Amino acid sequence: MKLHLIIFAHPNSNSFTKAMADTVMEVSQQFGANTVVRNLYALNFDPVLSYEEMQGVWQGIIPEEVSYEQKLIQQADLITMIYPVWWMGFPAILKGYLDRVFTHGFAYQTGENGSVGLLQGKKMQHFINIGNNVEVYQAKGFAQALDVCLVNGLFNYCGITDIEHRLFGDLHIISDQERKAMLTEVAEKTLKNLTAV
Ligand SMILES: Cc1cc2nc3c(=O)[nH]c(=O)nc-3n(C[C@H](O)[C@H](O)[C@H](O)COP(=O)(O)O)c2cc1C
Repeated sequence: MKLHLIIFAHPNSNSFTKAMADTVMEVSQQFGANTVVRNLYALNFDPVLSYEEMQGVWQGIIPEEVSYEQKLIQQADLITMIYPVWWMGFPAILKGYLDRVFTHGFAYQTGENGSVGLLQGKKMQHFINIGNNVEVYQAKGFAQALDVCLVNGLFNYCGITDIEHRLFGDLHIISDQERKAMLTEVAEKTLKNLTAV
């Protein structure tokens, strides 16, 4: 059975972002995938990469809570990330998750010719929520900057090249009907990507 790993970051369990995560999870379970959700706030995931932990990584010492996440990522066929943009980046808890979990020797390694990504062969989808208008973000170059910093620029480096991402905007001003259409789109994309892995 395929493993679908859903990584989700939003502190409000009544948020639209949470509704998106629930939709993805339900579709995935109905599809019959082995579905694992990592709700970082619910897990109270510690996002701080300490100096001691950094030093440990270079000696191959990985904290158990980090190696647990690494095993899930390693086993996953499809990884879904669902989060809002906060100040042009990941919410801090998700940034810290990446700092701690995507370690040297696990996500990438440094060879004679530079870095090599170690997470090849996985499929990924990002559903990213923003308060701003998506067309405005595209016109200003901000959407491309987010792609570089949050999606392809980051995960390509780790060997994940098959990534679909979608920004959903105007979230504070749209109607319920528009929100429902977004959830339908998220469900359809998830089904398509699950079918492809
Ligand atoms: C701390 C914080 C920073 C934010 N920064 C941005 C931003 O840089 N760009 C943007 O378009 N929206 C920004 N927003 C708006 C959120 O992206 C938006 O509230 C969220 O996607 C709406 O989803 P929700 O209803 O599930 O919370 C920010 C919101 C917060 C709380």
